[in-house]
Amino acid sequence: MNSNGGNSKLWGGRFSEGTNALVEAFSESVSFDARLWRQDIAGSTAHARMLGRIGVLTAAEVEAICSGLAAIAQDIEHGRFQWRQELEDVHMNIEAELTARIGEAGKKLHTGRSRNDQVATDMRLYVRDAIDELLAQIDTLQRELIDAAEREVDSVMPGFTHLQVAQPVSFGHHLLAWREQILRDAQRLADARRRTNVLPLGSAALAGTPYPLDRHFVAELLGFAAVSENSMDAVSDRDFAIEFTAACALAMVHLSRWSEELVLWSNPLFGFVRLPDGFCTGSSIMPNKKNPDVPELVRGKTGRVVGDLNALLVLTKAQPLAYNRDNQEDKPPVFDAHDTLAACLRLYAALVPRMELNRARARAACAQGFPTATDLADYLVSKGLPFRDAHHVVGEIVAFAAHQGCDLAALPLADLQRFSPLITDDVFAKITLEASLAARTTYGGTAPTQVRAAIVRARAQRNASESDERGTAT
Ligand code: ARG
Repeated sequence: MNSNGGNSKLWGGRFSEGTNALVEAFSESVSFDARLWRQDIAGSTAHARMLGRIGVLTAAEVEAICSGLAAIAQDIEHGRFQWRQELEDVHMNIEAELTARIGEAGKKLHTGRSRNDQVATDMRLYVRDAIDELLAQIDTLQRELIDAAEREVDSVMPGFTHLQVAQPVSFGHHLLAWREQILRDAQRLADARRRTNVLPLGSAALAGTPYPLDRHFVAELLGFAAVSENSMDAVSDRDFAIEFTAACALAMVHLSRWSEELVLWSNPLFGFVRLPDGFCTGSSIMPNKKNPDVPELVRGKTGRVVGDLNALLVLTKAQPLAYNRDNQEDKPPVFDAHDTLAACLRLYAALVPRMELNRARARAACAQGFPTATDLADYLVSKGLPFRDAHHVVGEIVAFAAHQGCDLAALPLADLQRFSPLITDDVFAKITLEASLAARTTYGGTAPTQVRAAIVRARAQRNASESDERGTAT
């Protein structure tokens, strides 16, 4: 509080008393938005350069501001910066420090700008960076999945529907299914990036400003593809943050599905996959335990990110135009969604290459559920029986085999022929696991020939998107 009873805040001119201590603690955001310092300094540096270009600041002032900001950045980077709660947020902490260091010129930085367009700019820069980081991580994970799929093209495991054994599939095919999921997540993030990469700065508080700001120049300096069209929209909407978090939430939902499968597969009752010891933990009481904590935690953390999305949706709901302080609450969910997804992607990229199918166990599991029954029906179709009749005949054979306690391929020919005289000796070659796999040659099917072709396409697609990025990252 000033000696004259006023308010010492940067905005304190019209206030006759200092901020209530409870209010100060309640409304500060520097405890979490300090994380935006790089973006804030980049935005301020670009704004200052532009003010110099249009003649609002002198060249000397621009120089003082830019080198002052660079020095502050160094100090923050090295943990030498004193963040102050009474200065509310990242923006005013940096601005106050700048003025303390360089004097008058520092007080001119905020010309033609508001914290409303400043914070919207910072958040867009942050989300853009976060997307680029996540896209690189997803690309690494994709590469691991494709490589693992290649090693396991010929490994047979039961494919499930309703979590009941359905038909044999290649483990490589299963891994490529995961890859398709995460690929679409990458596409969603890249798509959200396009709408994120629009500059709000120059919208000022909500209505624009009388200064002849060169917004396109600022956009160019900060790498934004466009400037926002409407100042009221630009300072108030956080839909880009919602889209980003929605893409993160959906990616987490996918990872939670993989996690569930790993929890099941690593259970000795399945025994399909052995998780490396380094990715599991034990029990403090049961010496026998080796628990799949990583997949369990990924599955659990999915709830957080879905919660982050929900928080942002509800935060934005019913907000009148333009900026409202509610928007300050956008940061924790966005940061949390980013951190959580990044951590889970990192773990899975490390785990996937160390994940091995126990081929014997996976094969043995196929013997539990007559997974080649459809192949037997297809065999009867090839002998002229309509599919619906073939289905019925094979149903009866399955019931018989279940009663005998053996797999279809283990039934003597004479027994099979009691159900259909169309069955001859050549049937056995058709109802092995390998034959079943090899027969599923539709585009995108599990036949090893198809899985190999899918791997070739996946690699080509990765390379193409890599050179795309090189082409546009100018
Ligand atoms: N800390 C604020 C936020 O995150 C910055 C903008 C404050 N604007 C204002 N008019 N009080 O939204």
